[in-house]
Amino acid sequence: MKIQVSNRLERLPPYLFGKLNSLKAQLRRDGQDIIDLGMGNPDKAAPEEVTEKAREVLTDPKAHRYSSSKGIPQLLNEASKFYEKKYGIYLKPEEEIIATIGSKEGISHLSLALLGPGDSVLVPSPSFPIHIWSAIIAGANVITVPLDVDQDTFLSNLFSTYEMLWPKPKLMFLNFPHNPTTTVVDKKFFEEIIRFAIKNEVILVNDFAYADITFDGHKSTSFLEIPDAKKVGVEFISMSKSFSMAGWRIGFCLGNPDIIKALEKIKGYYDYGIFTAVQVGAIIALREHWDETPAHFASIYESRRNVLVEGLNKAGWDIVKPKSTMFTWAPVPEKYKDVGSIRFSQFLMHEAEVCVSPGIGFGKEGENFLRIAMVENEERIQQAVRQIKRAMQNTTPDDIMTRYSGSLD
Ligand SMILES: Cc1ncc(COP(=O)(O)O)c(C=O)c1O
Repeated sequence: MKIQVSNRLERLPPYLFGKLNSLKAQLRRDGQDIIDLGMGNPDKAAPEEVTEKAREVLTDPKAHRYSSSKGIPQLLNEASKFYEKKYGIYLKPEEEIIATIGSKEGISHLSLALLGPGDSVLVPSPSFPIHIWSAIIAGANVITVPLDVDQDTFLSNLFSTYEMLWPKPKLMFLNFPHNPTTTVVDKKFFEEIIRFAIKNEVILVNDFAYADITFDGHKSTSFLEIPDAKKVGVEFISMSKSFSMAGWRIGFCLGNPDIIKALEKIKGYYDYGIFTAVQVGAIIALREHWDETPAHFASIYESRRNVLVEGLNKAGWDIVKPKSTMFTWAPVPEKYKDVGSIRFSQFLMHEAEVCVSPGIGFGKEGENFLRIAMVENEERIQQAVRQIKRAMQNTTPDDIMTRYSGSLD
């Protein structure tokens, strides 16, 4: 019998990064030592005290029951205190905060809760795929706003795009510091966009997954630091990068109580909450390690960034050092511009044994860029730089054009 999937699923293209992962796995099975700078998957572990506490809870039979879908009260209290300590903002734990199974789950279900056919959504592009696809899965239309410009130009392009649109978009995703481009914005940016959102009744959703991974003294602004933010939107934070707890699957959505209530309602139908041992581990992380642990991980990524960017630039690349995130957003070297980001990634995978993400996978504005995740240690990154340099010395753009298809099918 042929299984007919839903129209919703048919609207989704094959996941480019899934294909890249299969290729990487295949080459590894064939014996190649691929240096994996593809996915933003942290390579460090959560603080020992967090793991110890979770292990202890694991032995309590009560912890094996279903947990609370919105997060246990102590966890929501701790998340509230975290925002107070870090940003000086008070959020009511019961009404203005909800725990999510990582921010990706939270964003996906929030789209289902707020969007449907006939709605449209604004998304800066290139973008982290779920900002686009969660809206598509919910049946909404997506309008992208190019992000390859400075923040003032971006805002004026956004405002003029908005003027032309009908029906008017209902929601806009923000994501600063931004994956994949590493763009950071200042407080003034949020003030202006919040003023625009209030005037036009556009819901704002800021994905703040890279809040703490900042370099060279840069400090990220929380969207909720702007006094009126809560009137129009929410912010998602994640334990994945700040505390290296990606596999634990825990994050939070904070802000506007009506939006939190909508997310709570839909999550009540879909899930029974995060495993209690994980929630208790997160309490310890937020209470005892909120300051030094994220700073420690940021300093590790900063040193890796220096090795990567300085090494590639010495080899003839032209990369601006990122101020935040665990990524470097690298233009394909000028000489190879015409081969495109997929072919260049195929070349790096096969001939330099380095896996990176082609920029086109984040939207057409990402073409001719590569996203390089700094998720291997400095020695491996140094080795990756050497292998890339060597592979490029022996290869012309024509060689790449003839050897690789530019498609991952
Ligand atoms: C911008 C952005 N948002 C959300 C996520 C997902 O994070 P989480 O592990 O909290 O689901 C990622 C992960 O790479 C990300 O880059």
